[in-house]
Amino acid sequence: MTVAIPPLSLRNVSRSFGSFQAVADVSEDFGPDELNCIIGPNGAGKSTLLNMICGTLSVSSGSIHFGDVSLGGMPGEKIANLGIARKFQVPSVFPSLTVMENFHVSAANDLSQDGLDRILDTVNLHADSQTPAAELPHGKKQWLEIGMALSMRPKVLLLDEPTAGLSADETRATAEFLRTLKGRVTVVVIEHDMAFVRDLKARTIVLHHGKVIASGSFADIERNDLVRDVYLGRK
Ligand SMILES: Nc1ncnc2c1ncn2[C@@H]1O[C@H](COP(=O)(O)OP(=O)(O)OP(=O)(O)O)[C@@H](O)[C@H]1O
Ligand SMILES: [Mg+2]
Repeated sequence: MTVAIPPLSLRNVSRSFGSFQAVADVSEDFGPDELNCIIGPNGAGKSTLLNMICGTLSVSSGSIHFGDVSLGGMPGEKIANLGIARKFQVPSVFPSLTVMENFHVSAANDLSQDGLDRILDTVNLHADSQTPAAELPHGKKQWLEIGMALSMRPKVLLLDEPTAGLSADETRATAEFLRTLKGRVTVVVIEHDMAFVRDLKARTIVLHHGKVIASGSFADIERNDLVRDVYLGRK
């Protein structure tokens, strides 16, 4: 049985640090029916936006709802308990524990062995299940962390630059397994790798100076003059 996943709704969300506005008036809805990708130049406010969704940072103004539940003022742990899982920009796994032991730390109580096996297949770590996390190459550490987030059986998966430091093949494999999550988990992924974003076939949102300057399919985004001007055209 599949459980309906409520939309994650941002309304006029802003965040300032002192007099500097890092995120300005963002209103977006994220759901499981399509993958969602956030792109934009360094310092555009992408990580700040994810930090507000998962409760690491409070909003300065605006609201974030998960279905009927307002996330405003809720501590991160409680937001995680609602099923909103987050992978940070830098991989954080337990280095001295094996891959399997890491999963035993993170997995939801009701995750079956079958479910865990499926996740190990998804993130391509079956052969490494007895390897200490410290000995994994960087790419597999990233996958382990995504797998650990999935083992919590999240409704929403927030990923901050999951392909940083991955090879082209690993990056393609990451897009492939994220695509398999469509319809089952709401995925919001921040990325700089445009080959990956093209591959992901996600709804893409472009942030610039904290504002959404374009959204739509990546094909639409690529043709957008403003986006080419401030971001894509620079590469
Ligand atoms: N805790 C903070 N205190 C002050 N300024 C901050 C803080 N966090 C972020 N900023 C500033 O807010 C802006 C947006 O930062 P953010 O990390 O969200 O950008 P980003 O889009 O994730 O960039 P990158 O692609 O480099 O990861 C930057 O100018 C950053 O210096
Ligand atoms: Mg960032």
